[in-house]
Amino acid sequence: MKGLVLSGGKGTRLRPLTFTSAKQLLPVANTPVLFRVIAAIRDAGISEIGVVIGDTGEEIKAAAGDGSRWGVRLTYIPQPAPLGLAHAVKISRDYLGDERFVMFLGDNVIQGGIHTLIRQFAESNYNSQVVLTEVADPRQYGVAVLDERGHIVRLIEKPKEPPSNLALVGIYMFDKHIFEAVESIKPSWRNELEITDAIQWLVNHGYTVFPYVHKGWWVDTGKAVDMLEANSLVLSELTPSIEGLVDAESVVDSRVTVSAGAQIINSVVRGPTIIGENTRIVNSYVGPFTSIYHHCLIENAEIERCIVLENCRISDPPARIQDSLIGRNVTVTRSSHKPRAYKLTLGDYSHLELH
Ligand code: TTP
Repeated sequence: MKGLVLSGGKGTRLRPLTFTSAKQLLPVANTPVLFRVIAAIRDAGISEIGVVIGDTGEEIKAAAGDGSRWGVRLTYIPQPAPLGLAHAVKISRDYLGDERFVMFLGDNVIQGGIHTLIRQFAESNYNSQVVLTEVADPRQYGVAVLDERGHIVRLIEKPKEPPSNLALVGIYMFDKHIFEAVESIKPSWRNELEITDAIQWLVNHGYTVFPYVHKGWWVDTGKAVDMLEANSLVLSELTPSIEGLVDAESVVDSRVTVSAGAQIINSVVRGPTIIGENTRIVNSYVGPFTSIYHHCLIENAEIERCIVLENCRISDPPARIQDSLIGRNVTVTRSSHKPRAYKLTLGDYSHLELH
């Protein structure tokens, strides 16, 4: 089997971070989401992985390289425009050939890996298997309808009256018949070739499409709140370690990871939390579910349930910073200069909540 990771797209919902970076490279617990996806496919025993890339392709290639660090071979497949998930499959046909494959959205995070579902599909003669999970509000998702034999018979996008609470997770397995489907379907109202239409085409043409119901959590990191949620869940499962320095005045609990070269000075850090390489936490409080990336300085500050990317400096903020996603090279400081006012330099589509 081969793997196909979708790492193109626009990432509009994660602006402004996606103006300067591919969304799949945003880290949860200090590891890019894309790297977690590649590792999950590798752990399922697949070593040939195609990566569909778009405008941010060069950055993705530079970050992931040839895949040797995971012991896999990555092949990059440029998608000229983000014309839909089924379009990504269509342009990957030469790479995939006649092999069965697993397609994984490069911005999804799933608990517990994918080896059981890969094994089930590899040992079956199903034409396709779609990963589903139970969700609280299926009206926000693509939802599957099953018949009495357990086959998928219909897929409905964002149903007003959901026929089930089984939503599509961003993981799909296909055999070569999917290429007939993606060649036959027409673009949707949003001008994309939809993977749900391609799967529906398989069903309508008598191919067997089975569900795989995933137990455990799954997060599609489309928006900032989802990134924070994924970060919290992954941090909760991280095995902590202290490689950096914690001084005698600091209190760091047993669920904290302090990376090499990091320093915790006169501070309190409560886990689950990760502090990146060469980052300094000085006279500060870092609360649970926080990931601070490499080369940052947090000084005279309180911060909790945040993701902070590299090279940031946060010093003396007047209030606790919480539930925030902070991009690279950001400075947050306090000024004693008059007038007393918020002085902001925010990128387009920034989001700021002041109290
Ligand atoms: P989406 O989150 O559906 O789309 P997007 O990345 O363009 O984001 P937004 O809606 O905020 O603008 O995409 C899911 C994943 O699939 C993501 O990793 C990007 C990738 N993708 C492609 O590779 N090609 C495509 O044509 C599309 C639509 C998405």
